[in-house]
Amino acid sequence: AANDIDTQANFLNCFLEATGGSSSSPSMIYTPNDTSNFATLYRSSIQNLRFLSSGAETPSFLILPSVAHDAQAAVLCGRIHGVRLRVRSGGHDYEGLSYVSFTSTDEPFAVLDLSGLRSIEVDAADHTAWVGAGATLGEVYYNVAAASPTDGFPAGICSTVGVGGHMSGGGFGSLLRKYGLAADNVVDVRMVNAEGELLTRETMGEDLFWAIRGGGAANFGIVVAYKLRLVPVPPKLTVFSVSRTLGQGATRLLHSWQSIAPWLADDLWIRSSVIAIGEAPVNRTIQATFQGLFLGPLGATLAAINMSFPELGVRAEDCNELSWVESTLYFGGHALNNTRALLNRRPAFNSSFKGKSDFVREPISEKAWEGIWKVMMEGEEEPLEMIFEPWGGRLWEIEDDAIAFPHRKGNLYNIQYFMRWFETQTEMTERHLTWMRRLYEEMTPHVSSNPRAAYLNYKDIDLGSSTEEGRTNYTEASAWGRRYFLSNFEKLAKVKARVDPENYFWNEQGIPPFAA
Ligand code: FDA
Repeated sequence: AANDIDTQANFLNCFLEATGGSSSSPSMIYTPNDTSNFATLYRSSIQNLRFLSSGAETPSFLILPSVAHDAQAAVLCGRIHGVRLRVRSGGHDYEGLSYVSFTSTDEPFAVLDLSGLRSIEVDAADHTAWVGAGATLGEVYYNVAAASPTDGFPAGICSTVGVGGHMSGGGFGSLLRKYGLAADNVVDVRMVNAEGELLTRETMGEDLFWAIRGGGAANFGIVVAYKLRLVPVPPKLTVFSVSRTLGQGATRLLHSWQSIAPWLADDLWIRSSVIAIGEAPVNRTIQATFQGLFLGPLGATLAAINMSFPELGVRAEDCNELSWVESTLYFGGHALNNTRALLNRRPAFNSSFKGKSDFVREPISEKAWEGIWKVMMEGEEEPLEMIFEPWGGRLWEIEDDAIAFPHRKGNLYNIQYFMRWFETQTEMTERHLTWMRRLYEEMTPHVSSNPRAAYLNYKDIDLGSSTEEGRTNYTEASAWGRRYFLSNFEKLAKVKARVDPENYFWNEQGIPPFAA
């Protein structure tokens, strides 16, 4: 522990010196002793409260850079003094790996919180935007729409998700079928590497730029900003939502959806989700919800649905004609008349959650769905939700190795298993996790296999992890690496060997250097 205290003092002095601060006026570095600021700032964007009471290690420093140079100083001092960094942008990491550590050693680490680096500069004439990594998706949507009403950007549904993690893991939402992932539309980057250098696409080399689009930037450095290619959106889009219970034919509809949604015109996106509702045993049922977006006015929307998926029975009163930015409010669960809600960075829930993911390559039979419903109806408390995201369109046109995100043609849809709960007792948490794992088990015969693929942005520690700080080997990391990155895993490990051979940017589910 004495050693720890020295390490901490040395790191602090190094950082203050490199950034021109002094310990009497720490402008951007906080320690847990600083009780007035540390806890509030540390908790400010934590989405998953489960990790505050899990016994995980918390940081010895919280650093809030205001310029890229501060991030460079953190890396240089961290390397000299043996302090690792966890980089946090929006704090939505499913396993809390942007702000806690599960290592058994108690080596100090620092959280580098990029929420201060969130400027957004839209170039409407060029249809591009430079976006600070600490911005949220809501801030991006708000600023893009304000600067250029005919431009949009294809990224996730929840407005508080951070740009930093989201774009480097893939990133998808309602424009996914038309324009692909957020990562497919990143055209340049400013990033600090393990040498503390500030690089751009031109100076980092194409293989590193390839790796951080889908491979998780946390393995390679600190993204300070991304340059995004904006995409055209019409003045009027149409959104809709319809729900059906088992008694109203939900199973049949979902069964049809699997063979329709991935092949719809690119302008039409229909996702679905299921939850168990009602009191057991008599009123317990499954409710399937179909939410959609069409890039055009109401009349054309109804015509498109009636042609391709008439049994869904969407009526004019289920629809809403909106601007693109209003559609982001709609899917994000905000009131439609308050665009400024997109600027609210506070987590919408004070809760714990768990997610897992799968990819489906063959339609699941109606009989199999009935077995799945049984598991979903077992629990009586917070609903376990399954969200089905249709593939097809632009996603199928892009090659598996175009960027590090590999899940393309051959997939019909992505499944997210998601559950949120509000109790903090360990037994409750365990009960919820067990239930979700049982459902995941039940799904085994119906989803991708060898490897069973998973989506990095729905990070799942059940796939495996290493707690030996800095020492994950390639074979060990294949347990999760092959599932997140399929055949791109090997190239990712080779890029890692070139840019961070000592594995400074280590985490429990990281990509280790592989030099062969
Ligand atoms: P956070 O800051 O926790 O970082 C996540 C990971 O990225 C960590 O490993 C972190 O170290 C690393 N990282 C963050 N910033 C970095 C930077 N600047 N440089 C290098 N590494 C960095 N996904 C999706 O595709 N579509 C969706 O609609 C949604 N919706 C959604 C809703 C809710 C409520 C949650 C909690 C999550 C989602 N997601 C999602 C998943 C989301 O895309 C995923 O959790 C992202 O990694 C979150 O990025 P943040 O920056 O917010 O997280």
